Amino acid sequence: MPAACTIREARNQDLDALAELLGLLFALEADFAVDAARQKAGLELLLQPGQPRLALVAVSSDDGAGRILGMATAQVVVSTAEGGPALLVEDVVVRPGSRGQGIGKALLARIEAWGLRLGASRLQLLADRDNAGAHDFYRACGFEPTNLVCLRRTLP
Ligand SMILES: CC(C)(COP(=O)(O)OP(=O)(O)OC[C@H]1O[C@@H](n2cnc3c(N)ncnc32)[C@H](O)[C@@H]1OP(=O)(O)O)[C@@H](O)C(=O)NCCC(=O)NCCS
Repeated sequence: MPAACTIREARNQDLDALAELLGLLFALEADFAVDAARQKAGLELLLQPGQPRLALVAVSSDDGAGRILGMATAQVVVSTAEGGPALLVEDVVVRPGSRGQGIGKALLARIEAWGLRLGASRLQLLADRDNAGAHDFYRACGFEPTNLVCLRRTLP
């Protein structure tokens, strides 16, 4: 990761920048639609204190403004297969001009450290089947494919 980049927990003041990043992500994923109002509503829930949720941002310290270069979130789920907590990782995205410098990997490492402190035994996530770059990234970060497929039903 660049020396002039730090990772911290996201704050409410970051909402616009985070929604913009999620717009980049969801534009790539066929199953999701870019909708800044919904993305902000989801982020506000993630940022509520006292919940087993983590929203991280990678921030440039090059300029005084602290530009947000990337983000990742995680939520605790209880896995009966594992007999304990596991983490659902979502919203992993780095600004196009800042990719390939270790920022994504550093965000996942911080999520892993948080999960270990909570006693989680694994990280899990979904990736678009056509997003070969993301698959390579996750493989480089130690993730392995599974035999599971994702099913969903939208409620009225
Ligand atoms: C996927 C993404 C988050 C990776 O972030 P990044 O900061 O560029 O990744 P890093 O620089 O930390 O790379 C970590 C490792 O993954 C590898 N990697 C990253 N992107 C890769 C790609 N597109 N193709 C092949 N390998 C890649 C790197 O070579 C590096 O490997 P190493 O540790 O062995 O040197 C970023 O490309 C991105 O935002 N993509 C668009 C959004 C997206 O697809 N998110 C995932 C949704 S499931």
